[in-house]
Amino acid sequence: MLRAQYLLLLTAAACLRHGTWAANEISTCEGKSIYVMDLGMFAAQHDLPQCSQADVKLDPGNGIPYLLDSPKFKAEEGLPYALAQHSGPWHLREAIAGSKYVTADMEQADIIYVYDHCYYMLWLAQVHTKGRKMPEEASPAGDWLMALYGSMLSSSRWQQNQGADFVFYDPHPGFTDGSVEAAYYKMLCDDFQHAMHIVVERGQRNICKAYWEISKKLMIVPYVPGSTDNREPLLGFQQPILPLEERQNLLFFRATCLPFMYLYPNNTRISTGKVMRHDVALALGKSGPNVDAMCTDKEFGGRFLSFQKVMDRMKSTLFCLVLPGDSASARRTSEIFMAGCIPVFLGPPYGSMPLAEEGGIDYKASSLFFNVTEYRGWIDDDMVWEIPRDERPFHVCNPWTWIPDIPVRDVAVQLQTVDELMDHLRTIPRSVLDQKLQAVMSQRQKFSFQPYITAPPSAINIILSRMCSTKKPEPIPGQDMGTAGAAAV
Ligand SMILES: *[C@@H]1O[C@H](CO)[C@@H](O)[C@H](O)[C@H]1NC(C)=O
Ligand SMILES: *[C@@H]1O[C@H](CO)[C@@H](O)[C@H](O)[C@H]1NC(C)=O
Repeated sequence: MLRAQYLLLLTAAACLRHGTWAANEISTCEGKSIYVMDLGMFAAQHDLPQCSQADVKLDPGNGIPYLLDSPKFKAEEGLPYALAQHSGPWHLREAIAGSKYVTADMEQADIIYVYDHCYYMLWLAQVHTKGRKMPEEASPAGDWLMALYGSMLSSSRWQQNQGADFVFYDPHPGFTDGSVEAAYYKMLCDDFQHAMHIVVERGQRNICKAYWEISKKLMIVPYVPGSTDNREPLLGFQQPILPLEERQNLLFFRATCLPFMYLYPNNTRISTGKVMRHDVALALGKSGPNVDAMCTDKEFGGRFLSFQKVMDRMKSTLFCLVLPGDSASARRTSEIFMAGCIPVFLGPPYGSMPLAEEGGIDYKASSLFFNVTEYRGWIDDDMVWEIPRDERPFHVCNPWTWIPDIPVRDVAVQLQTVDELMDHLRTIPRSVLDQKLQAVMSQRQKFSFQPYITAPPSAINIILSRMCSTKKPEPIPGQDMGTAGAAAV
C-alpha cells in the first residue's frame, strides 16, 4: 500500500553518474515544510565555537572521525565527508536543503530536523582520538552538546509540541564517555521521548524507560557504506552483479572478534557479539575449501583484509554472514547488499536490520535466516525473544533483546549448532537462490546515501518519506515539561 510513494515521480533535473537520477519529489512530503535547526545557532549564547565538519578527519580505513591532531594519519589522507560511516545526518541535511520542502521559517515549519551532527562528530572524534573516559572525567564536546540541547529545549518552538514534531538522527550506537554520559542519555530518553528518533539499531533507544513512546516513531537506518573509489561513493552500487554460477566461494565472513572489554569491566556480556563471531568463525572456517570465514585479529591467527579485497571477495561469494559485534549494527550489512552477496542472518543474537519497514528492504525476500539452539557458548542468559514491556537492557551492548527487526520465525531454519549451517546452505535449490539474488539486486541501492533526493531511491528518500508521514502531533495532555527546559545548561 505504501509502496507507491517510493515510485518516484521522475521530474529528473539531471542525469547523475551511472544512471542515478536526481529527482525532487517525495510524495508524503508534498505540502509539508522542513526546517533544519542547526544547533550552532545557539553556540554564541554559551560562548562556544561554531563547529565545522572540517574540524574532524576521517579514517581512510573505516570512515570513523578523529581530531585533526590525531597522529593516526594525516588529515589529507582522510576520506571525503560523504563517506564517513556516521555521515547519514549530513546527507539528510543536504537533501533537505536542496529540496523544495526546506523552509527558513522555523515557527511555521511542519517538521524540525535537529542538526546536532557536527558537534556530535566532534565528540565522537574526541572519543576515538583520546580514548573513552571514565564516568568522573570531563567530556568537552559532550558538554557543548548538552548546553546546545538545553537552549533548544528552552525554545518556544520546542515547547509548542514538546518536541513531538522534531526529528533526531543518532548515527552511532553509543558511548561511554565521561561525566556527561548519564545526563546525555537522560535527555535523549526522557526529554526527547515524543520526537522521531532515527538510529542505527533498536538498542540505542530500547535502553530508555520511555522506549514504548519512542518506538512509535523509531526508525532504524543503515550506516553509510564504504566505497572502493573515494571519488565515486556510488560506484559499488552500480557495478554489475556476478551471476551465481561464476561465484567461486560459498560463504564469506571477515571481522574483528576481539571485544572491547573496557566498556564495563564488571560485565562480560558486552562482548557477546565478538565471542559469537569467534565461535562461528572457528566452527565454519574448517567446513570446506570454498568457505572463507575468519576473524581479522592477529591474536586469532587472522589478518586485515583491505576494503577493496573484502568487496571483491563478497562479490564472488554466494552467501555472506551477518553477525552482530559489540552492538547489533554493522556497516558490513550495507556492503553485503552492495556486493550482491546473499545475506545470511545467523543468531541469536541477531544483527540489526535497517530499513526493515514497509517501503524499505524486504529481508524475507532477499535474505536467509538461521536460528541456533545451542547459543550458550556466547550468551550468558536466556535469549529474550520479544521486547519486554517494562524491563529494559541497561546498555546498547547488552544482547538480551537483539532479535530480528521483523518477524522471521516462519522462514528461519532451526539449527542445533553452527556446524550444521553449511549442509543447509549447500542444498538450497537454485530457484530459491535466483529469487534471493533478484531481491538483493532490486533493493541494494536503498543502502546508498546521497545528499539529494534520487531515483532509484537511496536510504535518504526512505528516511524523508517516513519523516513526512509521521502524524501531526496531538497535544500531550498533562505533560509538565517545565523542568526539562532548564535542565541541561
Ligand atoms: C556494571 O556497571 C554498570 C555501570 O556502572 C552498571 O550499570 C551495571 O548494572 C553493572 N552490571 C552488573 C552486572 O553489575
Ligand atoms: C528460535 O528458536 C527459539 C526456540 O529455540 C524460539 O523461541 C525463537 O522464537 C526462534 N527464533 C527465530 C527467529 O526463529
